Amino acid sequence: MTQHLVVPARPATSGEGESNAQRRTGWWREAVIYQVYPRSFADANGDGMGDLAGIRSRLPYLRDLGVDAVWLSPFYASPQADAGYDVSDYRRVDPMFGELADAAGLIEDAHALGLRVIFDLVPNHCSDQHEWFQQALREGPGSALRKRFHFRDGNGENGELPPNDWESIFGGPAWTRVTEPDGTPGQWYLHLFAPEQPDFDWEHPAVADEFRSILRFWLDLGVDGFRIDVAHGLVKAKGLPDLGVHDQLKLLGNDTMPFFDQDGVHEIYRSWRPILDEYPGERIFVAEAWTPTVDRTANYVRPDELHQAFNFQYLGTGWDAEKLREVVDLTLDAMRPVGAPATWVLSNHDVTRHTTRFANPATGATQIRTPGDRVLGLRRARAATVLMLALPGSAYVYQGEELGLPDVTDLPDEVRQDPSFHRAEGQDGFRDGCRVPIPWSGAEAPYGFGPVAGGPSWLPQPDSWAELSVEVQTGDPTSTLELYRSALAIRAAHPALGAGDSVEWLDAPAGALAFRRAHADGAFVCVANTGSSPVRVSVSSVPGRLLLTSGEEPVRTDSGEEIEIPADTTVWWSA
Ligand code: GLC
Repeated sequence: MTQHLVVPARPATSGEGESNAQRRTGWWREAVIYQVYPRSFADANGDGMGDLAGIRSRLPYLRDLGVDAVWLSPFYASPQADAGYDVSDYRRVDPMFGELADAAGLIEDAHALGLRVIFDLVPNHCSDQHEWFQQALREGPGSALRKRFHFRDGNGENGELPPNDWESIFGGPAWTRVTEPDGTPGQWYLHLFAPEQPDFDWEHPAVADEFRSILRFWLDLGVDGFRIDVAHGLVKAKGLPDLGVHDQLKLLGNDTMPFFDQDGVHEIYRSWRPILDEYPGERIFVAEAWTPTVDRTANYVRPDELHQAFNFQYLGTGWDAEKLREVVDLTLDAMRPVGAPATWVLSNHDVTRHTTRFANPATGATQIRTPGDRVLGLRRARAATVLMLALPGSAYVYQGEELGLPDVTDLPDEVRQDPSFHRAEGQDGFRDGCRVPIPWSGAEAPYGFGPVAGGPSWLPQPDSWAELSVEVQTGDPTSTLELYRSALAIRAAHPALGAGDSVEWLDAPAGALAFRRAHADGAFVCVANTGSSPVRVSVSSVPGRLLLTSGEEPVRTDSGEEIEIPADTTVWWSA
């Protein structure tokens, strides 16, 4: 029994066999971008922590998988208070990941394989060990370096209360009081995340200058673009006004906050765009911008700003045909006027893997602590991916989702490193579950993540992952890995897939959605059944050739008039 058709391996990177994204300009309008989480991808030196040499050695795997680009989460010098999103030196590679030559070599190797490389830029905050912050602490109140951060006197008689009521995304107040050089309790500084991550004051020209220089540093090295961390956070409302409510985390994504999505951030991106455009080779910016609406997200990708923004509204939508159709329409309608491609994403290093989200009842939560029904979760996750890859625009794949990895929901508390887990006293911050090193081969942990069987990995891998390794899944036509490979190869070759700004919805039974994508060289139809029983669609609505199905059962076409789509399954056809 074949669950999907195996198509030829990914086309070569030049000449006739180029993929859609390679052939057309504006590669990023349809690119599939694979997120590597450097700590957990591949560990070349066997210390239990992934590294750049490990990533380099696995680049051919990514080429064969069929993605167009690789985005690396931060590998810069960092005390790792937030897994590298606390940067102490923006121009240095942390020794735990390698050195600058490894980053340069990685870019070079990737380019030779036809892959583009995107680095992560963290401009909202740095590490408290960053030279500027350390100097600001030493220089005391009113000093020049303190003006590059948000230092304020406290409220209350003796300044013992934080300057305003803002709460940290990781729990607790967004302010920490410092001890002044003379040993007295002193000013407070703002940190929207952990206390080890002081926010820059972007009103200060030195901050803006520094980041323009950092951009050039990595562009000169040959990087193809940047993912901008907390792109919506750089500018704070004038006067840092109180919110007047508690539990502010619950408002995120729904309400306008004085520290997020302020209009002033767009000036910054308008000043960055010309820098990027000076460099050859269509380099790009992608925004991590959590905003209340898709329309607000579209502001980040106006023609003179960034190229793409993650579609978190899509990520947060459950496995529900009606809601998915709605968010697809909202997204395409929001992006069309600004001329930016839609993006689609189901998993990343901050949320419970979609295999596990879909294994649990839909609550809209992105962090889930129960494994749920694993078989169902995987089935839906596969169907959700096949749907995502059929949509017009660019798509993001998070490392390990191509193996169908579940989130590890039962990590012991003592191995967890997510700072929000510790700040929220174990009530929140379950991001380690999606960050467990991925299995490559072998029967014993770390399953080829590190060079030696029985060697270390910074988070323990479940025993069951022996069965989910790249080695086990390669060549098995029923595996999730081969499903991704097939889907990506078809997507790269089919004229109607990839870039676009609309879909034509077709009639579909309740619980299913169906759309057509037209192209002069051949149309394409996708039907996704999100329900728990099969649905039937008329043969007249689908073109000739079945290309792919996410499920294990054959798609029955024998009646001649109707086609039966099994439960929780997405199917592709070509005309
Ligand atoms: C972003 C990152 C997340 C990090 C946070 C603070 O949301 O994706 O991992 O903790 O920013 O930098």
